[in-house]
Parts: sequence; structure tokens; C-alpha cells
Amino acid sequence: MNLLLRVAAIATVIYQVSAIALDVGDQNSVKQAVTTLAQTFYEYHNPSATTGQFDQPEPWFWWLSGAGWTALIDYTAYTNDTTYVSGIHAALSANAGADNDLAPASQAGWEANDDQAYWAYATLSALEYGFPPLTCEPADEVANVSCANSWFAISDNVFQQFVTRWYNNSITCNGGLKWQYNPEETGNGWTYKNSVTNGGFFQLAARLARFTDNSTYAEWADKIWDWSSGVGLIGPNYHVFDGTSDADGANCSSINRDQWSYNIASYMHGAANMFAYSGSGNGSSSGTLWEGRVHNMITAANQTFFSPYSNATGVMYEQICEPRELCNTDQASFKGSLARWMSKSAALVPSAKEGVMDLLRSSAEGAAQSCSGLGNSTCGTKWYVGGYDGVTGFGQQVSGLEVMLSLMINDAPKLAKLNSNSTVSH
Ligand SMILES: *[C@@H]1O[C@H](CO)[C@@H](O)[C@H](O)[C@H]1NC(C)=O
Ligand SMILES: *[C@@H]1O[C@H](CO)[C@@H](O)[C@H](O)[C@H]1NC(C)=O
Ligand SMILES: *[C@@H]1O[C@H](CO)[C@@H](O)[C@H](O)[C@H]1NC(C)=O
Ligand SMILES: *[C@@H]1O[C@H](CO)[C@@H](O)[C@H](O)[C@H]1NC(C)=O
Ligand SMILES: *[C@@H]1O[C@H](CO)[C@@H](O)[C@H](O)[C@H]1NC(C)=O
Ligand SMILES: *[C@@H]1O[C@H](CO)[C@@H](O)[C@H](O)[C@H]1NC(C)=O
Ligand SMILES: *[C@@H]1O[C@H](CO)[C@@H](O)[C@H](O)[C@H]1NC(C)=O
Ligand SMILES: *[C@@H]1O[C@H](CO)[C@@H](O)[C@H](O)[C@H]1NC(C)=O
Ligand SMILES: *[C@@H]1O[C@H](CO)[C@@H](O)[C@H](O)[C@H]1NC(C)=O
Ligand SMILES: *[C@@H]1O[C@H](CO)[C@@H](O)[C@H](O)[C@H]1NC(C)=O
Repeated sequence: MNLLLRVAAIATVIYQVSAIALDVGDQNSVKQAVTTLAQTFYEYHNPSATTGQFDQPEPWFWWLSGAGWTALIDYTAYTNDTTYVSGIHAALSANAGADNDLAPASQAGWEANDDQAYWAYATLSALEYGFPPLTCEPADEVANVSCANSWFAISDNVFQQFVTRWYNNSITCNGGLKWQYNPEETGNGWTYKNSVTNGGFFQLAARLARFTDNSTYAEWADKIWDWSSGVGLIGPNYHVFDGTSDADGANCSSINRDQWSYNIASYMHGAANMFAYSGSGNGSSSGTLWEGRVHNMITAANQTFFSPYSNATGVMYEQICEPRELCNTDQASFKGSLARWMSKSAALVPSAKEGVMDLLRSSAEGAAQSCSGLGNSTCGTKWYVGGYDGVTGFGQQVSGLEVMLSLMINDAPKLAKLNSNSTVSH
């Protein structure tokens, strides 16, 4: 079906099942949809002002609150709607921690590197979109950036900790961050070097490189990418596999080949930032290298996480768990990360934009039908069943919001850079 027919078909359904009214070709309609979904998300999971965490089933989904705030920061920047700004500030203040490193005392013991990274994505977005700073002490000044720019200070503090941990973790596998940074953490987190963690460190380094133009960050991004592909987390065709063990001499010699959408997304957006850092296609060889990597990852993501059935061309899905209806709360949120970082990557890599936006539009059309539950735009899990599938939760609502937001990427402010005036304020 061509685009117009598809939109018309959805329009017919809208008024029968009160799906989100979405015309992907009309920015006002998209803005309306994200506004509705942000409201549903915020009300349904109403965050606590004192802990800055969203109301969720279990406290160990702390990282998902980070994902939720990141979505609302993007929402604010894309729409100019300031409804959530004070909530965002309260939440980031409550979770910055005494050392401004997104390791608050409340999470001590179970917080892992990837959890910390998911909160750092919030401070990075706040930095890139020129959010008003959190207050911080002069002692937090780092890298010649005053704490007037607290978003940078916090993001860099996390980066510096990852650097320290990387060296400490390099006894095995010649590099790579472990999933957990707390050796006492039970389970396999201390003996698993995984993609959400190393892709997170990579993305953090690459975004700081683009923001500052400081080669130290870029060198780390190169190092993390090279290690990830050397060990096989990034495969020869740019598929990204979940992780690898460093327990008892395993030394990262075998790979858990599960593919989850947030893993490839983490690396993809880092690669797009390295393209921007390298001159955005000004002819530099590193620019060409990173542009190719972004395209190859888009191709791998398209092959793996889109078009589950012939009736669902271009619709995003979480291939491991969705068809079997086994997605847990975490996994139901991953499509949100893929939508977010594909769109942000397309914004940085113009040659990728058309193909990516096609995939995001078809996915958002499916999500609009899915986000029609319970009479109040509650989102289901599957975006290809022509309606609400009755399986909902925090992750579903974040993913629905993110895929709608991804269609607004062209309304996003230009990303700020250190020492330039391109920041915006809200
Ligand atoms: C949506 O409706 C369901 C069922 O009535 C309810 O549990 C939920 O709180 C509602 N959400 C919002 C945001 O009103
Ligand atoms: C948000 O405000 C900026 C600056 O005034 C403007 O350029 C942009 O178009 C606005 N975005 C939306 C979606 O209204
Ligand atoms: C640090 O800040 C000072 C004062 O603004 C400036 O003169 C200097 O060039 C900055 N150094 C770097 C490395 O950016
Ligand atoms: C470094 O690794 C050791 C075990 O190899 C661990 O006990 C220690 O806590 C780690 N230190 C840091 C700073 O990560
Ligand atoms: C451990 O793995 C790393 C990374 O693949 C490799 O460079 C190193 O040679 C391996 N060491 C041993 C003892 O096998
Ligand atoms: C670049 O960043 C590194 C890491 O934060 C820092 O140590 C160094 O001083 C920075 N260099 C400049 C020129 O700002
Ligand atoms: C491209 O841009 C990068 C980053 O600004 C710069 O270092 C490089 O010299 C430029 N290359 C060319 C060929 O203009
Ligand atoms: C995704 O795959 C479909 C089917 O092979 C293809 O038509 C489309 O062009 C691909 N999109 C991108 C961005 O690679
Ligand atoms: C598309 O096909 C799948 C698999 O047969 C099915 O589960 C789904 O409901 C279909 N979607 C629509 C909109 O009919
Ligand atoms: C940034 O803004 C200040 C104050 O408006 C101005 O003096 C300065 O020239 C601007 N710098 C750049 C690089 O545009």
C-alpha cells in the first residue's frame, strides 16, 4: 500500500477504536499525538517528586526512569511545551547523586554501568538542547567548563568513571566494560561484558566528542568501537550481539548472539556523532568511515527489527520476545531506544534521513493504532496487529511516545556545541 492509502486506512480505524489520530505527513498532527502520549505517560506513571522516579512495578527499573526523562527532555525541545521542565529538573537533581555522577545513594548496590548510561543520556540531551542548568558547586568544574553547564559536568563525570572502570576491567578480554561495576553484585553482571554497556560508553564518548571537539573523547570512541568489533559484539555485517562472558578464563571467546534493538541503537547513534565530529561529510576519511558504519547499522537494524510479516512492512518489532509474547518490562522499552536513536542519527547523517524516516513513519502508524487502549491512548506491545493488543506497561508507553517523537526530529533545535551560541533555552 502506498503512503496515502495507508494513512487513509488508518484514518478509517481512528474513529472506531479511538487510536491516536496520526497523519504522519502533517507536523501538527504529529505534535498533537506526542502531546497526548506524553500526557498519558506522565499521568499513568506519575513520577514521585522526591525520588524523581516514575511509578513502576519494581525499584530495579531505575534505569527506565532515566529513559522516561530523556524522552520528556526531547519532547520539550521538539515541541516547546514546557509542561515537564520542572519535573525534569527535580528528577535529575534527585538522581545526580552527591558526586554529580548519576550514582545516587538510593541506587547503591544494584546500579550497573548501563543504568548509569541511561541516565547520562538525559543529561546529554539536556546539554545538547541547551536546557537551563542544574545548580552545582564550583568544585564540580571539569574540563574548563564551569558548572554553569552542569549537564556537561555530570556527563563528563560518568565518562571519567567509565574510563577508570575500563582500565580496571581490562585484565580480561584486553578491554571492555563489565555490565556491573559492583563486584559484589550477584548474577552474571560482574562477569559479562555487554553491548548496552559498551555501546553506552561509546555513545557517551562520541556525543562528548561532537559537543566539545576534544579529541580525547573521540579517541575513546574509536577504542571502544574497535574493541567491540574485535571481540565480536559488533559482527562483520554490523549486527550487534548482546554480550560475552569474562568468567573463569572465558576471556570473551564466545558471544551471546541474541539481538536486542537497543544494543544496535546505542552504537548507531554514537557512530552518527563520530561522523559529525569528523566533519559531517567534508571529505575527511574518518567522516566517510563513520558514515558507512551508520548506514551499515541501519541496514542491519532494518533486517532484524522491522517488517515482521508481509502485512507489516517497515513496522518495528522486538524480534526475540514479541512474536512469542514474552517481552518483559525492560524489553518492551527497547523499541523506544531504537526509534529515538535512529531519528537522531538521521538528523546528523543527511544521507540516511530518507530511508530512516520511511521506517519510522510506518512504525509510528502502527504504534498510533496500538496506542488506543483503555479509552485513554494506552499503548500495547505489538505495532502490527491493527489495534491495541491488551499488553501494556511502562516500556510500551515509552516506546509509543518515542516513535511519535522521532517524527518530530526535523523540529528539534540544532545541537549545541561548546563555545558556540547555538544553544536554546526553555
Ligand atoms: C487509562 O485507563 C486505565 C483503565 O481505566 C487506567 O488504569 C489508567 O490509569 C488510565 N490512564 C490514564 C493516564 O488515565
Ligand atoms: C519552537 O520554538 C523555536 C524557536 O522559537 C521555533 O523555531 C520552532 O519552530 C518551535 N517548534 C515548534 C514545534 O513549534
Ligand atoms: C579555558 O577557559 C579560559 C577562560 O575562558 C580560556 O581563555 C581558555 O582558552 C580555555 N581553555 C580551553 C582549553 O578551552
Ligand atoms: C577493580 O576490579 C576489582 C576486581 O578485579 C574490584 O574488586 C574493584 O572494586 C574494582 N575497582 C574499581 C574502581 O572499579
Ligand atoms: C583475551 O581476549 C583478548 C580480546 O579478544 C585478546 O586480545 C587476548 O589475546 C586474549 N587473551 C588470552 C590469554 O587468550
Ligand atoms: C579534553 O578532555 C579531557 C577529558 O575530559 C580533558 O582531560 C582535557 O583537558 C580536555 N582537553 C581540552 C583541550 O579541553
Ligand atoms: C573536516 O572536518 C574535520 C572536523 O572539523 C577537520 O578536522 C578536517 O580537517 C576537515 N577535513 C577536510 C578535508 O576539510
Ligand atoms: C529496509 O528494508 C526494506 C526491505 O528490504 C527496503 O525496501 C528498505 O529500503 C530498507 N530501508 C533501509 C533504510 O535500509
Ligand atoms: C499481520 O499478520 C500477523 C501474522 O499473521 C498477525 O498476527 C497480525 O494480526 C496481522 N496484522 C493485521 C493488521 O492484520
Ligand atoms: C556569542 O554571543 C555573545 C553575546 O551575545 C557574542 O558577543 C559572541 O560574539 C557570540 N559568539 C559567537 C561565536 O557567535
